[in-house]
Amino acid sequence: MRVVVSIGGSVLAPGLDPERVEGFADALHELSAEGCELGAVVGGGTVARQYIGAARELDANEFQLDELGIGVTRLNARLLIAAMGHGVQRTPATTYEEAGEAVRRGDTSIMGGVTPGQTTDAVAAALAEYVDAELLVFATSADGVYTADPETDEEAEHLAQLTPGELVDIVAPMDRGAGASAPVDLLAAKLIERSSLRTIVLDGTDPQAVVDAVLRGEHSGTDVIPAGDTDEPTYWSHE
Ligand code: UTP
Repeated sequence: MRVVVSIGGSVLAPGLDPERVEGFADALHELSAEGCELGAVVGGGTVARQYIGAARELDANEFQLDELGIGVTRLNARLLIAAMGHGVQRTPATTYEEAGEAVRRGDTSIMGGVTPGQTTDAVAAALAEYVDAELLVFATSADGVYTADPETDEEAEHLAQLTPGELVDIVAPMDRGAGASAPVDLLAAKLIERSSLRTIVLDGTDPQAVVDAVLRGEHSGTDVIPAGDTDEPTYWSHE
């Protein structure tokens, strides 16, 4: 099964903890050993925010801020590549074509950002489109999708399942402005909707959660299931 995993910068490297990075490397190796063809997309986390904050005070423009963010996502990608050691494309892909080629020849591809004006959520969704992934997993710092932002709305309820269209409706109002709190950004949600991508949003604090979700469909996050999609990803029907 072909899978794209998006690993938020804040779950991959909170405080640049090598053990956490190793945990994700182990998780990706385990999935690969089980026969998954894998593309991973890595976010920028706190370090990206620090660079962007400093550059904003220096009056950098938005494009420059995004380029700094992309630089940090690629540094994080290099960290994960170093932790993986083998079976992985040696440098972060900078285009979807490069990543797709690596995935097709059986290497795990790890990339960061691609172009200003978006986040790595959108990169992961676009890569999933490009390689015709059967499953897209977002390992984030939130334990799934809520009806509203749980940080600011006491009434916010956790959703175990929703459709891509419902995901777009939920994240659209959350997507405005800096510090946006959407579990997945709006562009990613729109790509998921237009390509009917089967998607899981889960808490990636424990990298092993990604393995359980991909191999067995077991997780406590949110399933995004396209309307009328009754086929489960290949592995789950083997259980
Ligand atoms: P992230 O994907 O980590 O952004 O990329 P984020 O969602 O804002 O961060 P988290 O998930 O809350 O930690 C970091 C930054 O890199 C730039 C953007 O500025 C983004 O905020 N970026 C990333 C791009 O401009 N283009 C890309 O394709 C990816």
